[in-house]
Amino acid sequence: MSAHSLSANNQAAPAAAIEVSGLRKNFGKTTALAGLDLRVERGTVAGFLGPNGSGKSTTIRILLGLLRPDGGRASLLGGDPWRDAVELHRRIAYVPGDVSLWPNLTGGQAIDILARLRGGVDTAKRNSLLERFELDPSKKARSYSKGNRQKVALVAGLASDAELLILDEPTSGLDPLMEQVFTECIREVKAEGRSVLLSSHIFAEVEKLCDTVTIIREGRTVEAGRLDDLRHLHRTTVSVVLDRDASVLASVPGINDLVAQGSKATFTVGATELGGVLAALSAYAPHTLVSSPPSLEDLFLRHYGGTAANETEGAAAATQIAGAR
Ligand SMILES: Nc1ncnc2c1ncn2[C@@H]1O[C@H](COP(=O)(O)OP(=O)(O)OP(=O)(O)O)[C@@H](O)[C@H]1O
Ligand SMILES: [Mg+2]
Repeated sequence: MSAHSLSANNQAAPAAAIEVSGLRKNFGKTTALAGLDLRVERGTVAGFLGPNGSGKSTTIRILLGLLRPDGGRASLLGGDPWRDAVELHRRIAYVPGDVSLWPNLTGGQAIDILARLRGGVDTAKRNSLLERFELDPSKKARSYSKGNRQKVALVAGLASDAELLILDEPTSGLDPLMEQVFTECIREVKAEGRSVLLSSHIFAEVEKLCDTVTIIREGRTVEAGRLDDLRHLHRTTVSVVLDRDASVLASVPGINDLVAQGSKATFTVGATELGGVLAALSAYAPHTLVSSPPSLEDLFLRHYGGTAANETEGAAAATQIAGAR
């Protein structure tokens, strides 16, 4: 039966690319995962964010069948990451943030081996990626810099026809120009209907690329959803200059975090109150009004709070300046 007739008959939709629920993993006394949830729909790019040690790589190692969970469920392209590892590994590509290669092989040989593990190399695609990433495949891996080792893994992963790409901080060694090439490549992967899990600490990268984000902390999911919806839940920052002392804004319902100085003021406002606040503001004849939408970075930095609050005071202060708190 062709793919077309399958969809025409409206049979059961294919399983999600990744479905994880209540995942638990301990290393001795360390709890790495404490009931983590993660869902990646087919054909989407999913950001996976969390502070150092929050459990991203542990989740990914469970998905790759390298670790067994202590509890919860994980499924990958409808299969079991542990039991179906051999079959699944032909359908996925993995790029870690810290790539180690066979030191005596050239980059090109390493790419071919990695690709053959998955059943073959698309030479034209491989060569075009080598060119785009400006990687010389004839050098021995031991002479490559961190960024060049990273490019080897990226070229191998991107040249594959994997249905799902699992990328664990894949750009941590890339310069900004190469990071741009990476962004374009992931957009192409998405346009082909393939799925991507992207763990990253680079907010701008996640904001540019991802349809959804899952933010984790201490082994648990603390936020998850479509990027647009998550932004919507958070506050917009507004800066205004009024025709009078801006302290009058203190009495306007919906205005939060007001800092007024003379006729200038900065405050935050939730999405649902924005209309009412703008109507109230018009009575004060603003000369200037600048509004900045909440950024993913603001959203993420909030989750550094709690026990780590003291260490991140600087970051919190910076967020306050940026607004949306
Ligand atoms: N093999 C291991 N043995 C013992 N503890 C481990 C092991 N692997 C991970 N951990 C611990 O599990 C927790 C989660 O680590 P993990 O590497 O998954 O975090 P991460 O979110 O990937 O962090 P980063 O952003 O720094 O890459 C940490 O406390 C870490 O020390
Ligand atoms: Mg990690």
